[in-house]
Amino acid sequence: MIVGRVAELGQLDRLLADLLAGRGRALVLSGEAGIGKTTLLDALVERCGGDVAVLRTAGIETEAEIAFSALLDLLVSVVDDLDALPAPQSAALAAALALGPPQPGDRLAVCVATLGLLRATSRRRPVLVVVDDLQWLDAPSRECVLYAARRAGGPIAFALAVRDAEGAAGQREDLPELRLGRLGQEGSLEVLAQAAPDLAAPAALALADAAAGNPLALVELPATLSPSSVPAAPGSSCRLRQGAACSPRSPAGWPSCPARPGVPCWWRLPTKETT
Ligand SMILES: Nc1ncnc2c1ncn2[C@@H]1O[C@H](COP(=O)(O)OP(=O)(O)OP(=O)(O)O)[C@@H](O)[C@H]1O
Ligand SMILES: [Mg+2]
Repeated sequence: MIVGRVAELGQLDRLLADLLAGRGRALVLSGEAGIGKTTLLDALVERCGGDVAVLRTAGIETEAEIAFSALLDLLVSVVDDLDALPAPQSAALAAALALGPPQPGDRLAVCVATLGLLRATSRRRPVLVVVDDLQWLDAPSRECVLYAARRAGGPIAFALAVRDAEGAAGQREDLPELRLGRLGQEGSLEVLAQAAPDLAAPAALALADAAAGNPLALVELPATLSPSSVPAAPGSSCRLRQGAACSPRSPAGWPSCPARPGVPCWWRLPTKETT
């Protein structure tokens, strides 16, 4: 379940409502790794129901050098509409997607044909184009997607997601952006409660501090704890140092566990330096 993100989900709802009202537009979700971009794209797609044709693709790091691989994923379900395009455009796009004989490269024709194909599809139902991990789209696909996104309107909308500081920045600067910030402590504890319901409250607080509001870190950090490194409750005996009382410690400068070198120790004794 999505924690928080009320304002962001509201923006996505408006994007969808505008699309259904014939006022399609583009929105770029941006933010650091693990901040929740894909999660919000998924939520948007879930909200579409059957009224909207969702065309989706995502950049794949290992395919970033394969020209038009992401565009093929995006358009594969609507290539039957290629016939609706002017012959030079449909030939150029078919060639780019390896669906027709190779053609000498004509970047404009492929971009225009991509937009034309989306327009042809949108005559039946509004179209939402969803592109995740824009930073890893192969360059020709990214060019076509952004060309079309800049021309979003009427029954065509775009929701794109891109990681901070990982390229594509210069090419999308003219598109409206929704930056995803980190979760606050309350939200962080809620995500932790979902991910690790058995976590003792002090350990949850320490992990929330360590994750600094990044949802991916909140989901993954509990798995790094071993039963021996987390006591059932503060004040109980430390499982690492017999006879000592456990107490929570600020995550800044966590020492190595004295019993298991290399493993961060979430607890220390005695209570003098507790936070
Ligand atoms: N608001 C949220 N509430 C609960 N869980 C969340 C929230 N946002 C993200 N998560 C969880 O955090 C993890 C990372 O989220 P997600 O994959 O959406 O991040 P991302 O921004 O797409 O990361 P990347 O840049 O690596 O693609 C997922 O397990 C997701 O379920
Ligand atoms: Mg993602």
